[in-house]
Amino acid sequence: MIAVCPGSFDPVTYGHLDVIRRAAALFERVVVAVGQNSAKKYLFTPAERLDLVRSTTSDLANVSAEPLDGLLVDFAKAHGAGVLVKGVRFASDVEFELQMAHINAVVGSVETVMLPASADWSTLSSTMVREVASFGGDVSAFVPELVARQIRHKIQGWEQPNG
Ligand code: PNS
Repeated sequence: MIAVCPGSFDPVTYGHLDVIRRAAALFERVVVAVGQNSAKKYLFTPAERLDLVRSTTSDLANVSAEPLDGLLVDFAKAHGAGVLVKGVRFASDVEFELQMAHINAVVGSVETVMLPASADWSTLSSTMVREVASFGGDVSAFVPELVARQIRHKIQGWEQPNG
């Protein structure tokens, strides 16, 4: 079965990558849907977020990433996917994802599988990564070096000499 891992990935973190990697071990193929939540303001453009997801998943042979512009269930149908995989950290994530799962099951007849975040990444969020980075903090524990470099570029307009 083909699975879709959706998110806005602003930017992709080790938490996202852990869920994508585990989904790739469970399903025949995983398509990462890089979308936007109209209520959110983003640091990276859609193309940059997609590029970072592609670069950081290039070691996974059965994973690809595509832009998500419309409804997630239409994206799933277009890619022949029957299941959405969502990583969940807190009870609040589960509550929100339950609501989404019900909507997506009714509107698009697609199943949702929730994967509990691994202990290491159970409280990590892109929002926190952006917050730390915006004050010049080191985010290398939370994102691959390529992503950390792009954040530095974006936020501070500089890159470490050996980076
Ligand atoms: O990382 P995020 O911000 O939680 O990702 C949200 C995203 C992009 C996955 C979500 O907003 C989404 O699925 N958008 C597409 C529109 C849609 O199908 N919404 C769900 C039904 S209300």
